[in-house]
Amino acid sequence: MPSLPMPPTPILQTPRLVLRPVRSKDAPVIQRLFPQWDVVRWLDARIPWPYPPDGAAAFIAGCLDEMARGEKSHWAIVPKSGPADLIGLIGLWPDDGVSRNQRGFWLDPAFHRRGLMTEAAGCITDYAFGALGWPHLWLSNALDNHGSRRIKEKEGARLVDLMIGRYVGGESSQMVWLLTRDEWAARRTKN
Ligand SMILES: CC(C)(COP(=O)(O)OP(=O)(O)OC[C@H]1O[C@@H](n2cnc3c(N)ncnc32)[C@H](O)[C@@H]1OP(=O)(O)O)[C@@H](O)C(=O)NCCC(=O)NCCS
Repeated sequence: MPSLPMPPTPILQTPRLVLRPVRSKDAPVIQRLFPQWDVVRWLDARIPWPYPPDGAAAFIAGCLDEMARGEKSHWAIVPKSGPADLIGLIGLWPDDGVSRNQRGFWLDPAFHRRGLMTEAAGCITDYAFGALGWPHLWLSNALDNHGSRRIKEKEGARLVDLMIGRYVGGESSQMVWLLTRDEWAARRTKN
């Protein structure tokens, strides 16, 4: 199992995106974009809903603490072609041996279905297997979250379990996937 702490969260780039560590001044744009049903519906039920007015500020404070302790990395997703503000977030954390989920992401619905999260997730997965040298990633999504599910399928992840998940939108089947470094490398070579 990878050992803590994670290194400082680096700035990463894809063809269309800059992924940079979240910062305190991201709170207002997150407060504006995040509390939309199409964003939160399939996210963890522990997210406060209805979203409180200080929800984003509290979330960012937690992210900054986690990054300072080397427990997680949290990136703002910023399109190179604008707007200058973030349009979503993506996070990564080590295998704790229990949770079977090591990556989380969301995007403003105005930017859905353009392949942007495929691009961001691929970059973070490269980082996990490359720079961090992790041997595998546990990944998870609600059965009916077709976009998130498809991203795992395209990455070459293997479906290993179906269980009950608790989401903001209620209980639902939860898919658990495992992606190894070798499987990812094989998929990358093929594409
Ligand atoms: C899940 C999410 C991040 C996908 O982001 P995205 O940028 O729209 O995804 P992409 O454009 O890269 O699409 C990935 C694949 O899923 C498919 N897809 C995306 N949204 C879909 C939808 N609503 N229904 C069916 N397929 C969908 C795309 O067609 C693509 O597959 P393809 O390459 O075979 O055509 C976005 O829908 C989102 O932010 N949802 C709310 C938050 C969330 O659920 N996060 C994940 C929790 S596990």
